[in-house]
Amino acid sequence: MKPIALQLYSLREQAKGDFVGVLKAVAEMGYVGVEPAGLHGMAAEEVREVLDDLGLVCCSMHGPFPTKENVNQRVDEAAALGTDLIISGLGPKDFETGEAPGWTGRVGLVTVLLDDLDLDIPNCYAFTCGPEIMLRFVTLKLVEKGFADDHIYLSMNRKMSCGMGICGRCNIGPIYLCKDGPDVCYAEVKDYPNLF
Ligand code: FES
Repeated sequence: MKPIALQLYSLREQAKGDFVGVLKAVAEMGYVGVEPAGLHGMAAEEVREVLDDLGLVCCSMHGPFPTKENVNQRVDEAAALGTDLIISGLGPKDFETGEAPGWTGRVGLVTVLLDDLDLDIPNCYAFTCGPEIMLRFVTLKLVEKGFADDHIYLSMNRKMSCGMGICGRCNIGPIYLCKDGPDVCYAEVKDYPNLF
């Protein structure tokens, strides 16, 4: 089985009170890596020391979307933690005013925004990620715009259970997203009735 890391965002409340204790508990459970979501008052170098002592690696760092003011600091923190992967996202509230931090482009429904894009479609590939209902309508829009089925990729982060291809919770036809995905080419899955 592949080594499994844990997103510490799921333990953010516990980590507020005792971040080192949470790291110890996670290591004792058998996880080999973590994705910190905030450093809870510690310096990145201090956290790295604790991780090293516990035999954990930092596989990625999760935090607010970097701005031009703090991007260097975020990169330095990630380096100190021993990763070159920074995970950030914007939530619905960030888009309410159309002024998401660090973002000066357009905001709106992706299916609407796609209408206005001037693309050399035969030479484009689309990689989509998000809720399945969104993937469905974005895929329909991409096909309508002329994207070839094998130029569309879907990140199907469906709710999984066993993660080992046994329980049958995550499959699209014979494709088990937990083992064979979660990223799949639309051309390979489009004919299965339980795609979306
Ligand atoms: S999560 Fe169980 S088969 Fe994929």
